[in-house]
Amino acid sequence: MPVIKVKTIDGEEKSIDSGVGVVLMEPLRDAGLIDATCGGAASCGTCHVYFEDTNLAGEQTEDEGYMLESLADFVEIREGSRLSCQMKVDAKHDNCAIEIAPEA
Ligand code: FES
Repeated sequence: MPVIKVKTIDGEEKSIDSGVGVVLMEPLRDAGLIDATCGGAASCGTCHVYFEDTNLAGEQTEDEGYMLESLADFVEIREGSRLSCQMKVDAKHDNCAIEIAPEA
């Protein structure tokens, strides 16, 4: 079961367990670390995370890219930016480090 290392919005370091194939938003939301206001529709940006290792971030979906573009005036968008509702956890994500982005 992949363990994801998370730097919270308050700068705390936490670890969360996630199943393979689970949408990353779900364990983050269940742990109270993000709001995920739109429920995973790629329309709120409250699930935005930064992957420390950009190789593990994967490809953004088209809708996700538009959403991140719209956030760019308000929050930093990095190469490792992903909307956690738009990606599934894979075995390669075990021990990967992410940071919760500030809300726009
Ligand atoms: S939960 Fe709203 S954009 Fe991901």
